[in-house]
Amino acid sequence: METLYRLVYTSARRKDCDDKEIQNILASCKKNNPGKNITGLLIQTENRFLQVIEGDKDEVLGLSEKIKKDPRHGGVNIRFEQKVDKRLFPNWHMAFKDISKDDIQFQSKISEEDKKSYEAMMEGDISAYNDRGMNVLKTFVSM
Ligand SMILES: Cc1cc2nc3c(=O)[nH]c(=O)nc-3n(C[C@H](O)[C@H](O)[C@H](O)COP(=O)(O)O)c2cc1C
Repeated sequence: METLYRLVYTSARRKDCDDKEIQNILASCKKNNPGKNITGLLIQTENRFLQVIEGDKDEVLGLSEKIKKDPRHGGVNIRFEQKVDKRLFPNWHMAFKDISKDDIQFQSKISEEDKKSYEAMMEGDISAYNDRGMNVLKTFVSM
């Protein structure tokens, strides 16, 4: 039986992980994730990534092991890892959001409190990885 699992990590984006490399990463997501029924969100900022990966536990853990070794980033730090009842991103085999480029839009579209929650997540405050934090991430795909 499938155990629905969610894993969220932050990492440091390498300087040479430029737009072209991001396109390559998204191409891998498009190629691999649908067949494994993996969904989620990848956020890029100036120098970081935050990724939510959800799906069958074995698939999620297998993919996260592969991603951990990817030289396009480093310091992968798992912030949330748990069995869940429902997917946050059922319709996205990997939604992508570049917050560094959308900064102004981002700043004006989310509330002060949601911004704080997001910043705490990015800084690795694991207490921010609660329902509120997850909902803030969810709002990004509709922005
Ligand atoms: C930040 C980041 C997120 C990634 N997310 C995914 C992902 O969701 N799915 C995926 O297949 N590969 C992802 N990758 C790429 C994998 O590390 C790996 O390069 C890729 O899966 C290899 O695919 P291939 O064996 O089909 O060439 C990601 C890489 C990075 C740096």
